[in-house]
Amino acid sequence: MVVLRLSFALLLLLNVVFLAYGIPKPDDEENIDGDIPHSPLDHDSDGEKHFEGGHHNKQYDHEAFLGEDEAKSFDQLPPEESKRRLGLIVDRIDDDKDGFVTLSELKRWIEYTQRRYIDEDVNRTWKMHNPDNNDTISWEVYRDNVYGFLDTMDKEEIENDEHSMSFKRLLKRDRRRWGVADKDLDDKLTREEFTAFLHPEDHPTMKDVVLTETIEDIDTDGDGKISVDEYIADMYRNSEPNDEEPEWVKSEREGFAKFRDINGDGFLDREEVRTWIVPKDFDHAESEAKHLVFEADTDDDEKLTKEEILEKYDVFVGSQATDFGEALARHDEF
Ligand SMILES: *[C@@H]1O[C@H](CO)[C@@H](O)[C@H](O)[C@H]1NC(C)=O
Ligand SMILES: *[C@@H]1O[C@H](CO)[C@@H](O)[C@H](O)[C@H]1NC(C)=O
Repeated sequence: MVVLRLSFALLLLLNVVFLAYGIPKPDDEENIDGDIPHSPLDHDSDGEKHFEGGHHNKQYDHEAFLGEDEAKSFDQLPPEESKRRLGLIVDRIDDDKDGFVTLSELKRWIEYTQRRYIDEDVNRTWKMHNPDNNDTISWEVYRDNVYGFLDTMDKEEIENDEHSMSFKRLLKRDRRRWGVADKDLDDKLTREEFTAFLHPEDHPTMKDVVLTETIEDIDTDGDGKISVDEYIADMYRNSEPNDEEPEWVKSEREGFAKFRDINGDGFLDREEVRTWIVPKDFDHAESEAKHLVFEADTDDDEKLTKEEILEKYDVFVGSQATDFGEALARHDEF
């Protein structure tokens, strides 16, 4: 059971992290005041959705700003303490110590926290699967650690258990992703290859498999393309079948036709999904930095003082129940 629990945490990490950082929000810049068309980054590992109604996701802001681990620990702090620590962080971000945080200082900070997060995550996961610190991890070892429990169940048992079924699907997905990350085709991953496997977002060679995974997630009828209903279902589900859709869902429907479905055939094909989730020249850190400046720059001088940042401390380090924490808590009975 311990292995299972570890595995689940790992899967959550894999998916949550990947989705938090993996897929940029293409229209962030054009829609900087919060009217951001949805992006698949709002999945969590169960495929449950918690899109915040087309509004910029606060959780996402402070994860970008603090790194996911830090964001979690800030969420436990009382407001006064989190403000105090934010003040200390601001001093660090202000590289040239001129009393202002500029867009480029903020961007560099966000890049740094992301690198640090990925680094720590890879370290942690690498150690977990490779306690001997060998040069590589073999697929069999990884598979046994994460999915080995499936071998102790018979077919029927697996089919009657939703969690086991989702593990089975994840196993297939991991297998494929592993193969793509394995550059020298020895079925073992070096630390570098393992990083690409765990965090494909930064790796150009992983883009296609990421795209495939995203399409599979959203394409529920499996016809290889995404209808407007699948697109909407990915971000919103009626709690009552006859409930009227909220405004933001209607505007997402319009957005589908206007921005996503480029050839106007009513579906998103692979290339249209690619344009949506992996736009060229999109700089995630810059976009996030711009958004934070926009939120906090009260006097419109395009740089932030410590006071301006502390004034909007909830945007930077706001304490909200994290989806991630909830997800972990939910699965803790395992
Ligand atoms: C990750 O591990 C490497 C190698 O052991 C180490 O140099 C690095 O500092 C670690 N990074 C973090 C963020 O812990
Ligand atoms: C590390 O390598 C040794 C020697 O090849 C091997 O016996 C051991 O099983 C490996 N450890 C893991 C976790 O794969």
